[in-house]
This record gives sequence, structure tokens and C-alpha cells, in this order.
Amino acid sequence: MENFFPHCGKSGLRAEWRRLLDARGPAQDALFARADAVRRAHCGDAVPVRAILEFSNACANDCLYCGIRASNPLPARYRMTPDEILAAVHGIAAGGTAGTVVLQSGETPGPADEDLAALLRRIKAEFPALAITLSVGNRPRDVYARWRDAGMDRYLLRFETSDPDLFARLHPGSTLADRLGCLRDLQALGVQTGGGFMIGLPGETPDTLAGNILLCREFDFDMIGIGPFIPCPGTPLENESNAYAGDPDLFFRAIAVLRLACPDAHIPATTAFDALFPDGRDRALRCGANVFMPNATPQPFRRDYQLYPGKPCVDEEPADCTRCTRARLRALGRPVAPGPGHSLKKQAPPGNRPVL
Ligand code: 5AD
Ligand code: FES
Repeated sequence: MENFFPHCGKSGLRAEWRRLLDARGPAQDALFARADAVRRAHCGDAVPVRAILEFSNACANDCLYCGIRASNPLPARYRMTPDEILAAVHGIAAGGTAGTVVLQSGETPGPADEDLAALLRRIKAEFPALAITLSVGNRPRDVYARWRDAGMDRYLLRFETSDPDLFARLHPGSTLADRLGCLRDLQALGVQTGGGFMIGLPGETPDTLAGNILLCREFDFDMIGIGPFIPCPGTPLENESNAYAGDPDLFFRAIAVLRLACPDAHIPATTAFDALFPDGRDRALRCGANVFMPNATPQPFRRDYQLYPGKPCVDEEPADCTRCTRARLRALGRPVAPGPGHSLKKQAPPGNRPVL
């Protein structure tokens, strides 16, 4: 990995990133231009497109920030059947834009884990050219191994915050150590692994943010998803505000500094940016992000998968999002990347990844 901070130890990196995260005016413009140039040099202009299929909003967890937490009575709960999921994946493959399907749901460990393995095998058999990313939360290593053997190429599991006390407050019954253990397991299994965090959780400071970026760099993730925290009705944090509400440009500076810290990671322009700014994902793609993730969840399920309010496209159909994605990328002068858009890192042998 190219190192833009060759003279810095951990504390030097934090201090340098704190300085960049504070940039305003011309210094901010220079940061965005530098991050965009680093993105172009390491990832190119072509944008890998990953279609997200939110196949169930059932969740056993009670994360304090999340709209589909178990104790929120507001969303109508749904689980798409395997045939409904296969039909949606067929639409994604036929659309010809996305090279990856991202299967995401709430966290419901148990017997359904075996059904998921069967589903992965069916998708791989019918659509061998499509990469499969799974994003369904913490599991023991042997479950991840079975999913990998069934055809899972990648896994997304944000660590949400690098502050262990804040993590414990936000995630009843779970610890940051558990989460990082899952991420290490996935890397050791040779699965392309995505981490990431929310920007501006109540109680975090810019130093937490620099620590989050440092954790991403130390894990050397293949993919890193970050997006602003948005208070969600029906959750214990509904009346809180984002820690950086007075300085929303910081969300974009976080993307830019992350790109400098992790030059060859896939960094998506995440949906939460569009919930706060009409052109949020386009701006993210211009200051360091290189991946786009349109929503491929069919109606009527879409409206019940709102982790936060203001999520775009809740009334749209998957084909609308495909069309819109192509138009947005064309306007940015960024072609859709062909193929599955695998990791840009040379895959080290399992168990030999540079982890903490
Ligand atoms: N605001 C912003 N992002 C959220 N997520 C969950 N709830 C919220 C919220 N209220 C993010 C988490 C999770 C990802 C799927 O969505 O980071 O990992
Ligand atoms: Fe869904 Fe634009 S991405 S309509």
C-alpha cells in the first residue's frame, strides 16, 4: 500500500489527520483535490457498482441508533423468500450495470444461517459472473467459513466506532472486541472484508474520528463504508444530533482523509450522504469515494428498511435506481466498471493479512 504519511507513527498520523479534518476554505479544496487524485491513481475513473438487496429487516439486536432495532415497533417486519430474492438477483444480473449483489439484513443468527448458505449456492449456480457480498452481522468463524464455501466473495461489517466505551453503550450485549474478532476471522478466511464506521455519533470527538480512520488503516480493509450518523425516530437516539451537525462538510473531509489513509481500498459513496444532501453521493465520489451502491430492494419491502430517516429512493423501483445510477455517473464523467469489482489489494494467503 502506498504510504502518504511515511514519517508518521500512530500519534503522528492522528495529529496529521486531525489537521486535515479541520481544513476549511482553500485548504479544504486542496484536500478534496488531493483525495480525488489519489482515488484516480489507485482505483481509476471507472466506478464498480454494487446493487444492495435488503432481503429482511428482522433483527434480534437493539443497536441504539438503528431504525430496524428489535424494539422499534414502527417498521413492518419482512423476510423475502428465496424465490423472491432469486427473482431480484435475476433483475440485477439482467440490468447489466452491477457486478456485485450485496445481500443485507438485520442480525438473526440461528437456523436461518443454513438457509442462507443454500441461497448463496443457488445464486452462484445461476449467476456465476456476479460477485456476492453478504452483510448480516456478527457470527462465529465456522458460519462465515460455510458461507464462503457456499459462494460468498465478500463481507461487510462496520465496526461503527473505534471507541470501546461508546461501542458498548450503543450495542447492548456486544463489545468492540467481539466485532473486531469477527473482522479478523473474515480476513483469515480469505474473504474480501469491509469495515467502516458512522461519522458523528453522539459522544464522539474528532479524535475518535481520527482513531476510526487509523483502525481502518491498521486492518487494511478491502472495502471501507462510512457515512454520517442520522438520528432515527423510534430509537433511543431520536432526539440526539450528529456530533458535527454544525460542520457538515466534515463528512466529506472524512471521506477525503480516509482515501489518503487507505489509498487502494474500495470506498463507496454511501446512501446516508444522499439522505442529508441532494447530491451527497456525487460529492463523495468527487472527494475520494470510488464505488456506488444503488438500492435493488423491490417494492413493497423498501419502505420498511429505513435504518435512518430521509433515505432516498424509498418509492422507486430497482430499475429506476439503475437508470439513475447510470445518469449520475455519466454526469460525473465516470464510466461504470466492467466485471465484479473485486478488491484492489493483492490477496495475501488466508491468515497472512496484515491485521492488528
Ligand atoms: N444513521 C446512519 N447510519 C446508520 N446505520 C445504522 N443506523 C444508522 C443511522 N441512524 C448504518 C450502520 C450500519 C449500516 C448498515 O447502516 O453503520 O452498519
Ligand atoms: Fe435510486 Fe437515484 S439511486 S433513484
